[in-house]
Amino acid sequence: MPTVRKRILIKLVVLGDSGVGKTSLMTQYVQGSFSAKYKATIGADFLAREVSVDDRVVNVQFWDTAGQERFQSLGSVFYRGADCCLLVFDVNNAASFENLLSWRDEFLQQANPKNPDDFPFVVVGNKVDESRDKRVVSDTRATKWCETHCNIPYFSTSAKENKSVEEAIQTLVRLSLKSQ
Ligand code: GTP
Ligand code: MG
Repeated sequence: MPTVRKRILIKLVVLGDSGVGKTSLMTQYVQGSFSAKYKATIGADFLAREVSVDDRVVNVQFWDTAGQERFQSLGSVFYRGADCCLLVFDVNNAASFENLLSWRDEFLQQANPKNPDDFPFVVVGNKVDESRDKRVVSDTRATKWCETHCNIPYFSTSAKENKSVEEAIQTLVRLSLKSQ
C-alpha cells in the first residue's frame, strides 16, 4: 500500500513595521515576483502555498498584516489561532529592529499560545541587497537579539533578489510542525 501523506494546515502570521517588506517577501515566496512600488497593506492580506517539508506537504496560509499604526487594533483578530509567526525588520532601519520586541510581545499577548517560550518564531532582516553604507543592523547584532529571545532562528533576506526567503519560511514551517 502506498503511504498516504497527511495534509496539514498551518496559519503563519507575518509581523513588523510598515515598509520593511512583509508583502514583498510573501509575494516573492508565493508568486515569485517583486515590485519596487510601495502599496501599504490595509488590515491584512491572505496568501496560500503548499510547502514541502521533509516528507510532508503542508498547506500554509500566510496572513500578511499591515505594519501601519492605525491598523494595529485589528491585531487580536488576525493573531488568533496562529501556528507560527514571521517577524520582519529592515536591516537599513534601526527603529524597525528595535520594535521587534513589542511586535513579539504584543503577538504573544493577543494570540495567547499555551507555551509562549516554545512558540515558533523566525526573524528576518530584509533588504540586504541595498547598499552596504545604508546598513545599520549587522547580522551579529540581530543574531544576538534572537539568541536572547528563546533562540529564534535568524535569516538576512532580500525579497527583491529572492535571497534566503525560501529558507526562512521552510525553517518556520518545520518549527511549527515540531511543536504540533
Ligand atoms: P506595510 O504593508 O505598510 O506594513 O509594508 P510592508 O512591510 O508590507 O512593505 P512592502 O512589502 O510593501 O515594501 C515596502 C517597500 O520596500 C516597497 O517599495 C518594496 O518594493 C520595498 N522592498 C521590499 N523588500 C525589499 C527588498 O528586499 N529590497 C529592496 N531593495 N526593497 C524592498
Ligand atoms: Mg504590506
